[in-house]
Amino acid sequence: MTDKPGRLVVVGTGINIAGQCTLMAKSRIETADHVFTLATPVIAEWLTTLNPKVSDLRTHYDYANGKDRLDSYRGMVADLVAAVRAGRNVVAAFYGHPGVFACVGHWAIEQLRGEGYEAWMEPGVSAEDCLVADLGLDPGARGCLSYEATHFMLYDCPMDASALLILWQIGIAGDHTRTTRFATPERLAVLVDLLSRAYPQSHEAIAYEAPVLTPFETARIDRFPLADLPKAQLTATTTLVIPPATGKTERPGMAETLAALIATEPAWPEATQA
Ligand SMILES: C[S@@+](CC[C@H](N)C(=O)[O-])C[C@H]1O[C@@H](n2cnc3c(N)ncnc32)[C@H](O)[C@@H]1O
Repeated sequence: MTDKPGRLVVVGTGINIAGQCTLMAKSRIETADHVFTLATPVIAEWLTTLNPKVSDLRTHYDYANGKDRLDSYRGMVADLVAAVRAGRNVVAAFYGHPGVFACVGHWAIEQLRGEGYEAWMEPGVSAEDCLVADLGLDPGARGCLSYEATHFMLYDCPMDASALLILWQIGIAGDHTRTTRFATPERLAVLVDLLSRAYPQSHEAIAYEAPVLTPFETARIDRFPLADLPKAQLTATTTLVIPPATGKTERPGMAETLAALIATEPAWPEATQA
């Protein structure tokens, strides 16, 4: 706790406007002195019905002039920090979960805490939460690797074809300059080449888009062979999902080591009492 006036709460609106915003987030938005948002136009519009004082952080983007998205994010953080320094109860409402593949909230919280202000994040429903439900894929069943698509391409990220792979921002894959809006077939072909080190090109890939407007829409779930990724229709809201391609290999000797330990452990109290 700090008695410095001004604070920041970073909340998520969920992906589907029809009810995925938590009651807590809604209440934060309604009672804020000022709300900043980074969300779809529909969500931004809906927020103004909860609180008339809404500023849209998307105005920081400037693709026409080749502005680096990192500079846009820094500008957004500066807006949030300035409003808190002015003593306001500020809410940043980002779509989905506000801290999942979304840096602005994390950066603003870190800076404000460093300056002695109260600042925290509350969880929301992310695109990953939606895809688990819509695709029936449990990340706990076989493990899950989750990467931003360009990050996955640029860095030597481990590949594990026995686990679920989720690639975020596939619609702008391969833009390490952070200045363009759409992935080209050529860049996607480079990604297919890379993935071919671990997956057969015939392996299934899924272009997934969660519904955003009503509970009656169905998700977009396009299944195609990995080799066809360069031809896939990808947008700013597409996530690429690659189901596991292989089984798991047991670590030699591990089951025996654990069994030997368990044999020496005391019985559970319930068992002793029974
Ligand atoms: C900057 S990240 C923001 C993620 C967001 N914070 C969340 O919690 O889901 C943007 C990426 O999220 C994913 N995404 C956003 N909306 C989506 C939707 N309606 N369906 C599927 N994926 C979505 C896409 O991979 C998109 O490129």
